[in-house]
Amino acid sequence: MASKVKIFAPATVANVTCGYDVLGFAVQQPGDEVTIEMREEPGIEIKKIDGDQGALPKNPNKNTVSVSIKPFLKHIGSQQGFNIYLKKKMPLGSGLGSSAASAVAGVYGANILLGEPLSVEELLPFAMEGEALACGVAHADNVAPALLGGFVLIRSYDPLDVVQIPSPSDLYASIIHPHIEIATKDARSILKKNIRMVDAVKQWGNLAGLISGLYTGNYELIGRSMEDVIVEPVRSVLIPGFDQVKRAAMKSGALGCGISGSGPSIFALSNNSNTAETVGNTMKEAFFNLGIQSDLFVSPINQKGPLILTGS
Ligand code: HSE
Repeated sequence: MASKVKIFAPATVANVTCGYDVLGFAVQQPGDEVTIEMREEPGIEIKKIDGDQGALPKNPNKNTVSVSIKPFLKHIGSQQGFNIYLKKKMPLGSGLGSSAASAVAGVYGANILLGEPLSVEELLPFAMEGEALACGVAHADNVAPALLGGFVLIRSYDPLDVVQIPSPSDLYASIIHPHIEIATKDARSILKKNIRMVDAVKQWGNLAGLISGLYTGNYELIGRSMEDVIVEPVRSVLIPGFDQVKRAAMKSGALGCGISGSGPSIFALSNNSNTAETVGNTMKEAFFNLGIQSDLFVSPINQKGPLILTGS
């Protein structure tokens, strides 16, 4: 058995418009690369972090990459120690599930090195501990798709019940990340605690429509279900140019468009890769016209979740 493994864990789009905290999907790029190696002494040490411009803590109790491993080790009754090398290959505070990607890579890698005592599904509660650290709430709509791949519905949190949802193979995501930062904690704290029945009815109709559209490959149904009447109206004010960027995406053929996770990234879905490229470029242009620099990622849905890059 290898004593060192390098894991890629993908970025994710949470909420997917109408599925606040209950729906997310994984993309192929960007993501995090984490090298994890067994060591003689117990304890976890983060040896190196690249690509974070010094923003992330090396303290293992404060970084999602290691916080997910500790309760996992406790659960399986292991004293194994690890050294961790984290390469952030995605923006932080971007709404792309950066903390989730690290949490998933860490616990997934540790499980492999220990001979897979748990199934991938069983790792989910431990990966969620990372999210709890990052934003105060252990929501699973980034970690579950980062761990399992594809679209994942969190049917229930207590007890935890996640459902993998199939999606048509030509479905592509265009994600535009404007160079502004929004902390998930802040984006959650501005949401209303109560919602109107009329909005709830609209939202669960849309969520059921979106899930049905994904199952049946009905792009029109996917498109017309991608409407968020509860969270987007509140959060979009934090993203300068949101309306212009969304309009640009819809005009160039996107099925639907919304905030990726808690933002500021905005994502759109399209029914082929060419349209997804065009949609992405027009979103980028819309931000550029407002004087905002951005990064564009165009990707099919990642059906696999984490990848073992080397080792094991
Ligand atoms: N569902 C979470 C939220 C995702 O919207 O706050 C955060 O990435």
